[in-house]
Amino acid sequence: MEAAGKEEISVEDEAVDKNIFKDCSKIAFYRRQKQLSRRATYQASLDSATIGKDSTKFQIISETTKVSLLAEVYGIEGNIFRLKINEETPLKPRYEVPDVLTSKPSTVRLISCSGDADSLVLTDGKGDLKCNITANPFKIDLVSQEEVVMSINSLGQLYFEHLQIPLKQRAAKENKEDTSVDASQEDQEDLGLWEEKFGKFVDVKVNGPASVGLDFSLHGFEHLYGIPQHAESHQLKNTSDGDAYRLYNLDVYGYKIHDKMGIYGSVPYLLAHKLGRTLGIFWLNASETLVEINTEPAVKYTLTQMGPVAAKQKVRCRTDVHWMSESGIIDVFLLTGPTPSDVFKQYSYLTGTQAMPPLFSLGYHQCRWNYEDEQDIKEVDAGFDEHDIPYDVMWLDIEHTEGKRYFTWDKKRFPNPKRMQELLRSKNRKLVVISDPHIKIDPNYSVYVKAKEQGFFVRNHEGGDFEGVCWPGLSSYLDFTNPKVREWYSGLFTFSAYQGSTDILYIWNDMNEPSVFRGPELTMQKNAIHHGNWEHRELHNIYGFYQQMATAEGLIQRSKGKERPFVLTRSFFAGSQKYGAVWTGDNTAEWSYLKISIPMLLTLSITGISFCGADVGGFIGNPEAELLVRWYQAGAYQPFFRGHATMNTKRREPWLFGEEYTRLIREAIRQRYTLLPYWYSLFYRAHVAAQPVMRPLWIEFPEELDAFGVEDEYMLGSALLVHPVTEPKASTVDVFLPGSNEVWYDCKTFAHWEGARTVKIPVALDTIPVFQRGGSIVPIKTTVGKSTGYMTDSPYGLRVALSTKDSAMGEFYLDDGHSFRYLHQKQFLHRKFSFLSDVLINSCADERGHYPSKCVVEQIFVLGLKKQPSSVTTRSSDGKDEPVAFTYCAQMSTLRLEKLSLNISADWEVHVR
Ligand code: NOJ
Repeated sequence: MEAAGKEEISVEDEAVDKNIFKDCSKIAFYRRQKQLSRRATYQASLDSATIGKDSTKFQIISETTKVSLLAEVYGIEGNIFRLKINEETPLKPRYEVPDVLTSKPSTVRLISCSGDADSLVLTDGKGDLKCNITANPFKIDLVSQEEVVMSINSLGQLYFEHLQIPLKQRAAKENKEDTSVDASQEDQEDLGLWEEKFGKFVDVKVNGPASVGLDFSLHGFEHLYGIPQHAESHQLKNTSDGDAYRLYNLDVYGYKIHDKMGIYGSVPYLLAHKLGRTLGIFWLNASETLVEINTEPAVKYTLTQMGPVAAKQKVRCRTDVHWMSESGIIDVFLLTGPTPSDVFKQYSYLTGTQAMPPLFSLGYHQCRWNYEDEQDIKEVDAGFDEHDIPYDVMWLDIEHTEGKRYFTWDKKRFPNPKRMQELLRSKNRKLVVISDPHIKIDPNYSVYVKAKEQGFFVRNHEGGDFEGVCWPGLSSYLDFTNPKVREWYSGLFTFSAYQGSTDILYIWNDMNEPSVFRGPELTMQKNAIHHGNWEHRELHNIYGFYQQMATAEGLIQRSKGKERPFVLTRSFFAGSQKYGAVWTGDNTAEWSYLKISIPMLLTLSITGISFCGADVGGFIGNPEAELLVRWYQAGAYQPFFRGHATMNTKRREPWLFGEEYTRLIREAIRQRYTLLPYWYSLFYRAHVAAQPVMRPLWIEFPEELDAFGVEDEYMLGSALLVHPVTEPKASTVDVFLPGSNEVWYDCKTFAHWEGARTVKIPVALDTIPVFQRGGSIVPIKTTVGKSTGYMTDSPYGLRVALSTKDSAMGEFYLDDGHSFRYLHQKQFLHRKFSFLSDVLINSCADERGHYPSKCVVEQIFVLGLKKQPSSVTTRSSDGKDEPVAFTYCAQMSTLRLEKLSLNISADWEVHVR
């Protein structure tokens, strides 16, 4: 690694020590909310509520401080409620998170259907939902079908610190009484009102205490999910005192697993699920946030006590969720479902859907910190071809630059970057290079000079440019919250500005929490100043989001709006899905990290971020061959599929572990490429309909209690169940196959089982336990090429798995794989397949799209066909029938049709008689 100035910059030295990071006891606003919240009861003045077209407004007043808050309740299209609480007359405006909502949400007029001075009942007059507001003490109940599903502030944890004039100034004004925090508290250092110490760091708070908090009780719910990013289980756990889930974006090298500490990104959004209903709570706040969760023990009803509802749920329980944020306002969206898919749509209505990825980015990515030079790249690239392993993208980490000056190339290592890209292009492959948000302070570095001249860096509280240490040594940090900075930064990706770049070069944004090596908790001081004079504390969690936004925009602009970007980011926020992919950062080459990658990715997926992955092999350390193979097998079935390794680890390209392991890795990667049509179709569903690509079982089986806690397996779309092997020397895995009306087929052996059972599956080192759900049709490619680009014209196959009712359905999406023509010119193909009464039909799923393809379906494989057909014929759209040869296996109940030539974009039928 290159030395930065005199000192070597090493993340290992800086980050591995967990004491660098705070636990709850070291967070002053947490301590305050825990100690002080009980003292204030709020009362709503409902008699003076104003019910307007957009919202209903009323005051809530703290009995202790007498300072009033303004509450606004909005009804939003699609069964969403929004509650905003702010100071009625703050000393200065409080931060409201901009740029996350895709547009101003359309409101629906709420009408009051009953009420008096003590209560107010609002409804949108359409559905069955009611918002029941109680005045004293202030509380809101969300009621559906006469049953309270959620209560807000029923535990009285509404907490709102009013902006105040500092004590000294207040004393001078002799106006002590009307302050919300009494003066005796002022001297209590542990409350950290105006100053907070952490190790050698002192956070001076010019605005004083400004935290907010509120509780939500979810009735009948005990399964909660979401609020990434934590290296934790998919189902959220109850938090004990001092152990809240923390949302604070931090660079944690080799993060500990099963821990609630904040890591690289934050989505302040959780989902709750019970039989019959899914709910979402989206807490739109970008400052440091803590979430406490507490499930009240379930009460069992005896049979005689059971009414119809209780009978259905058997167990009544309640989970309380307590959100606390360091600053900003309370702005919370209640997504009322009722189904998981409704909640996904509601959340995507607010924050957008997954960007449609370019097809290449669903292939395999090869990364390492670092590939040394052009020759190294050439050899690794050739290695894939020699070993007949497909891959799409080569990656260059920070060492490719001139001294970590992004947008430059190290002239010795990469003297001719265009030549290198041409080599990759000749194989239909791409290059991704890194671009971090810190900019080396160097008067000879044009990016630095231009940003400096224009005042584009985050400032320190004294008004100068903020300076912190990162890879290049002393650096300043671009203020991506400023739209002008984003516009300028986007411009840096034009081919003329970015010397040596070509249109096959894409971008990786790293260290954008932002990571500041000698800063508090390895990040930026909270009193650094951003555009609009906002303190960093207000918007910390959204910094990385803005960098990815600007980068994606830059890549779109360089193509004059034609091409889809690919940008991977480490840090993220709610809505980051619109800009590209996310990965889980610096994991370790240990089995436990392979295992936890599944729940971590499931959590990202259900919070909108479908395009996610974990470093295959584990970033830190050297995986043994078996672990590496298992990781490739798991990664092949996870959305973003990239092998990556840190410096000083042994090289681990797929062919370095002996022929047997090469074969196993090749096979895993080839399975990925075989399934690309299915992956691409799933991403289209995520893009247009907000359905996650990788799905926890509870989403597909929302009525099956046994599925709610499963996180060692998951559904890929609605057709495939994947249970990666994550234990060493495994000879069997226990696979839970959900659904009493389902039938599941082992994709390798074609053995089948009825659902609602756990089966013990024997596994060898080449087994990837994947099961196709009866009733589904999965499109595949029948031949695999060097990269996705080689496979454009290659034939398709259909894997039809029959349900217990001998039917199946599936869909297929195709476009040019790289441009926006699918969107602007409707150049896409969307087909649906159905198998019913022994006839397989290919028909159009969306008449708006046109993308004629010459590709054929050459192979159809039917699983679960119980009787041997006497003939199989194809029928084209002009009604012509032709017999086709087939192979039927009575033992496995499979039918195989080969050497077909059925155009994928045309209507046709296959009759099995
Ligand atoms: C930290 C990232 O998490 C890692 O993937 C990368 O290799 C290093 N930074 C160096 O850029």
